[in-house]
Amino acid sequence: MSAYVTLATGQRMPTVGLGTWKSAPGQVKRAVLAALDCGYRHIDCAAAYGNEPEVGEALALRVGAGKTLSREEVFVTSKLWNTKHDPADVEEACRTSLSHLGLSYLDLYLMHWPMAFQRGKELMPRQEDGSICYSDTHYRDTWAAMEGLVDKGMVKAIGLSNFNARQTGDIISVAKHKPVVNQVECHPYLCQADLLSYCRSVSVCVTAYSPLGSGDRPWASPDEPSLLQDPRLGTIAQRYQKTPAQVILRWQVQRGVVCIPKSVTPSRIQQNLQVFDFSLSEGDLKLIESLNRSERFIVPAVVRDGKREWRDAAHPHFPFNDLY
Ligand code: A2P
Repeated sequence: MSAYVTLATGQRMPTVGLGTWKSAPGQVKRAVLAALDCGYRHIDCAAAYGNEPEVGEALALRVGAGKTLSREEVFVTSKLWNTKHDPADVEEACRTSLSHLGLSYLDLYLMHWPMAFQRGKELMPRQEDGSICYSDTHYRDTWAAMEGLVDKGMVKAIGLSNFNARQTGDIISVAKHKPVVNQVECHPYLCQADLLSYCRSVSVCVTAYSPLGSGDRPWASPDEPSLLQDPRLGTIAQRYQKTPAQVILRWQVQRGVVCIPKSVTPSRIQQNLQVFDFSLSEGDLKLIESLNRSERFIVPAVVRDGKREWRDAAHPHFPFNDLY
């Protein structure tokens, strides 16, 4: 099984990359260095993660002229945040990410969410009652501005994140530069079979975020099931003398899904790349698929009357009201 997938642009994207969401400043530089040093060639970033300058410090030590790795050897993704959807803001937002990462181009730039927030410097602009201030910029207009970044050579390819199938098709129907990736939450409890099959049919590669179930998500509650502790995965892992994390990542690799496991622990970073020396049987692939609960861990939410409610569910471009 190849350690790369080929995108519609012909670019080779490493199937396992390092995720950096939730990697705190003070930790992420060490994580990126550990990853590059043990063979990762794909780093997934975003302006909203608040740590791109520190990712950039690590890249500067290893990538570029006179360094261990040439720029062409590493695949770097970043994402346009929701407050930068206005077409007038897109280029500057991309330039800021490039400058923080210390790069002259990105391999891939994704629209982080289909919903636009009010313009400005505030990451999460809120009204007095705490609700988010949205903007009515349509994601199609944002897309057109992102296409300009390809034309200017600032990014090699553009794509989507958190888009459902209908919205992905909507972009494809107007695109000059087609989206090459849709990055969505995906793991054995949310297999995304329908979205995956749709994306395959239109040559959009799926990248799985939170592939290990994001046990460190800020709103994790002890009553929610822990993916990595699922005994059924433990049993499969024992059969191959691998860890549950490796089994999950291998399952994704075998179905052609790119994964970006996050870790700031060097031994786990290394472990998560060691998924190319074994193969899961058809039976075990099916067993993992049967763990699907179609439940999301990653939905922006508010707590009202003690209950978690999907924060943006009323927004016209909220992606998760559709079936897939
Ligand atoms: P840490 O960063 O402290 O090493 P996801 O990629 O789904 O968001 O999951 C990230 C979470 O999973 C983090 O808490 C991370 O911990 C943990 N993690 C990453 N790799 C492994 C692994 N191989 N085994 C156990 N936990 C892991």
